[in-house]
Amino acid sequence: MPAIVIVGAQWGDEGKGKATDHLGSQVDYVVKFNGGNNAGHTVVIGDQKFALHLLPSGILTPGCTPVIGNGVVVDIDVLFEEIEGLEARGVDTSGLKLSANAHVIADYNRTIDKVTERFLGSRRIGTTGRGIGPTYADKMNRIGIRVQDLFDEKILTAKVEGALELKGQILTKIYNRRAPSVEQTVEELLAHAERLSPYVCDTGLLLGQALDRDEVVLLEAGQATLLDVDHGTYPFVTSSSATSGGACTGSGIPPTRIDQVIAIAKAYTTRVGEGPFPTELHDDSGEFLRKAGWEYGTTTGRPRRCGWVDTVITRYAERVNGVTDFVLTKLDVLTGLEQVPVCVAYDVDGVRHDEMPVNQSDFHHATPIYEYLPGWWEDISDARDFADLPKNAQAYVERVEELSNARISVIGVGPEREQAVVRHALR
Ligand code: GDP
Ligand code: IMO
Ligand code: MG
Repeated sequence: MPAIVIVGAQWGDEGKGKATDHLGSQVDYVVKFNGGNNAGHTVVIGDQKFALHLLPSGILTPGCTPVIGNGVVVDIDVLFEEIEGLEARGVDTSGLKLSANAHVIADYNRTIDKVTERFLGSRRIGTTGRGIGPTYADKMNRIGIRVQDLFDEKILTAKVEGALELKGQILTKIYNRRAPSVEQTVEELLAHAERLSPYVCDTGLLLGQALDRDEVVLLEAGQATLLDVDHGTYPFVTSSSATSGGACTGSGIPPTRIDQVIAIAKAYTTRVGEGPFPTELHDDSGEFLRKAGWEYGTTTGRPRRCGWVDTVITRYAERVNGVTDFVLTKLDVLTGLEQVPVCVAYDVDGVRHDEMPVNQSDFHHATPIYEYLPGWWEDISDARDFADLPKNAQAYVERVEELSNARISVIGVGPEREQAVVRHALR
C-alpha cells in the first residue's frame, strides 16, 4: 500500500491539520516528518477545537497511530504539555511513536533563537522563537542531541559538553548572556527521559513494515513549500525540508513508496513573519481577508499578512512537490467580494515572469499581474457538491485549477470537519 504526503503549497497555515483530519479514518499511521512546535494546526471537530503543535493531527483519530519522525526537532516539555492537554480532553495518546533519531531542542537553543532575532534587527526572520533554527543548525553541525542520547547519562553529558563548548561561547561572548552549565542542561533534558521511553522506537522500521503489510501511511508536513530551507524564499524560511522530498528524509520512507502528494492551498494567500510576498494587501481588502478568515497565528497569535491567491506560487508548489491533488481551503472567506483577483504572473522591471524567479531579488521586486474574476454573494458554507457552489465560485476554482497544473480535489467551505466539497475522493 502507498504512502501519501500532505504539504503546504504557500507560506503555511493553509489548513493542513484539517486535511489530515479529513483523511484520518482512512489511514493507519500519520507521521510528522519535519519542523517542531513552530507549527500550529487547528482542527475543529463538532463543538471542540484542538490546537496541535508538535503532535501529528492524526492523533485525534481513534485507531490511527501518530508518529514523530526522525526529521522533527522535539521540545520535550512541549510534548508532555500537549499530551497532558489532550488526555485531559479524553484523547488517547498512548499509541504515540517517537523516533530515537529525532533531535531535541535544548534550552540554550531557544535562547539563541530569540537573541539572534534581536541581534539581526531589521534583518530578522520573524521566527517563532522556539529554538527551531539553532537546533537544526546543530544537527547539520553534528553537535545535536538526539532522543536516544537521553537514555545514557554518560553519552548525554559528553554531547552536552561538546555542544556547550561552542554554544556557551556564542551566548557569553557574542550575546552577552549567561551560558547554562552542563549539569543544569543535562538535568533538564533528563527530567522526562523515563516518561519518554515507552514512546521511543525505530520509526523508519515501524513504517517500512506497516507499508509491507499494506497499511496506509500519511506523511504530514509542517510549514510549507515557500518556507522550505531549499525551495522557499531563503533566507526568510524555516530550517527544515517542508516539501515532499523532506517526507522521505524525515521519515525513512523511500520515494518509491509514495504515490500521492496532496498540496493544501488557501483560496487566498497568507504569511507570518518577515520576507517578500508579492500579492500582499496593505489596504481594506487585506483587513477584510484577515477578519473574514480569522488570520491570527495558532502558535504565536501574530496577525497574518494577507493577499490574493498567487498561481505562480501554486504552480511552483505543484512542480517542486509533484502534486497529484490540491485541496483549496477557505473558499468561504472570499464570499461577498465584487471581484476576486487571481495573480497569474509577475512583472519584474517590465519583464513578464510566468514561473517563480530563481533570483530572490526579482521575487522581492515582483509586481503581480492580475486577472479579475466576478465574485459571489451566496453563503457557501453548506455546499457539499461542486454543483451547490454559485457559478462564479465554480469558475474561480476552475481558473485556479487550470493555472496550478493539478486538479483541485477538495474545496474547504468552513473550518469544521464536514465543511468540504469533494470533487475527487482523495482515497
Ligand atoms: P495548518 O497550519 O496548515 O494546519 O493551518 P492552521 O490550522 O494554522 O490555519 C488554518 C485555519 O483555517 C484553522 O483555524 C482552520 O480551522 C481554518 N480552516 C481550515 N479550512 C477552512 C475552510 O475551508 N474555511 C474556513 N473558514 N476555515 C478553515
Ligand atoms: P504551520 O505548520 C506559518 C515561519 C515563521 C518565520 C519563519 C521561520 O502551522 O503551517 P522558525 O520559528 O520556523 O524558525 O520561523 O517560518 N513559520 C510558519 N509560518 N506556519 C507555520 O507552520 C510556520 N512555522 C514557521 O513565522 O517567518
Ligand atoms: Mg498553522
